[in-house]
Amino acid sequence: MPHLVKGVVARSKGEPVSVETIEVPDPGPGEVLVDVKACGVCHTDLHFREGAISDEFPFLLGHEAAGIVEEVGEGVDNVSPGDFVILNWRAVCGECRSCKRGRPWYCFDTHNATQKMTLEGAPLTAALGIGAFAEKTLVAAGQATKVDSRAKPEVAGLIGCGVMAGLGAAINTGEVTRGDSVAVFGCGGVGDAAIAGSNLAGAHTIIAVDIDERKLEMAKEFGATHTVDSSKEDPIEAIRQITDGNGADVVIDAVGIPSTYEQSFFARDLAGTVVLVGVPNPEMKIELPLQEVFGRGGSLKSSWYGDCLPSRDFPMLIDLYLQGRLNLERFVSETISLEDVEEAFHAMERGEVLRSVVIL
Ligand SMILES: NC(=O)c1ccc[n+]([C@@H]2O[C@H](COP(=O)([O-])OP(=O)(O)OC[C@H]3O[C@@H](n4cnc5c(N)ncnc54)[C@H](O)[C@@H]3O)[C@@H](O)[C@H]2O)c1
Ligand SMILES: [Zn+2]
Ligand SMILES: [Zn+2]
Repeated sequence: MPHLVKGVVARSKGEPVSVETIEVPDPGPGEVLVDVKACGVCHTDLHFREGAISDEFPFLLGHEAAGIVEEVGEGVDNVSPGDFVILNWRAVCGECRSCKRGRPWYCFDTHNATQKMTLEGAPLTAALGIGAFAEKTLVAAGQATKVDSRAKPEVAGLIGCGVMAGLGAAINTGEVTRGDSVAVFGCGGVGDAAIAGSNLAGAHTIIAVDIDERKLEMAKEFGATHTVDSSKEDPIEAIRQITDGNGADVVIDAVGIPSTYEQSFFARDLAGTVVLVGVPNPEMKIELPLQEVFGRGGSLKSSWYGDCLPSRDFPMLIDLYLQGRLNLERFVSETISLEDVEEAFHAMERGEVLRSVVIL
């Protein structure tokens, strides 16, 4: 029997979201029905509701979630009812040319549930193939990873997007290691996770850059050794000064707009790495001197989901958290209910929160 549950829907571009009754099918082959316990509000949800990612409205928002497996479909053997799981938006296929080359974190054919959840009979587009601002959601089995159930849901869910994206941008994509200097543009949930990841990896200098003083204060709690308010000073100059005139070994752009990308490009040392993790919109363009692209060497990379492998990385990050080595609780600025998601977008835009987390 399909389940009628409450979910947060974006019906059309730029319109406030609303809580609606949606229909969630029983799991079919390879699918899992999850009783959602917590789901963080990520900036990407706001990008969806602004129509900046696609125009496949209506969207069922929410994708940074943890919950309990309620029912599994035929052939599912990685999770069972009662398991505490974190949901992921890149269930690797194991078959595509990237998976076959041993690089499953780049999988070119990630998959979601086959059946659609619906609103008044019309199919919903689940944000990032999850749709977890809902009491229950339907995902592909590979999108659910079992983790230690001693972790609090509101904390565990954050690993399902922002924390993994930021941490992985530093550790996996940027390959930050002991002794590196790192600069991070944008100290929201994603940027602060990149700072925490750089700290875990042993970076020596970690420079937080933001245009909001409050965010810079928070960044220090995750391990930033220096802060730069780029609304008041030139961040390229400031980063060079902090790094003996050289620039940072790894610069992570967790804003994703042309100005921060260009600043990141020029704030890195020779042979350094730029990692773009912030999501640009379709109109954005950059202009860079090609000679500098060549002459500075190094690499310009993009990081989707922190180049993670959920089955490898989620349980590991939960263990680090349970051991007290990764302060995930600090990311949770407030816990809210489904009705508060629209207001949480505004709190995010006003720069008041790292993460508002819906508790169900
Ligand atoms: N690549 C991925 O896999 C992935 C995953 C999750 C989120 N994201 C993206 O990462 C970005 C950040 O997400 P978030 O949830 O941390 O957002 P957020 O809104 O919480 O944080 C953004 C931060 O950037 C700062 N900022 C804005 N303009 C700036 C500028 N010009 N210079 C310096 N700082 C500036 C803001 O003050 C804020 O602190 C978003 O674009 C989001 O869509 C990417
Ligand atoms: Zn694949
Ligand atoms: Zn997200």
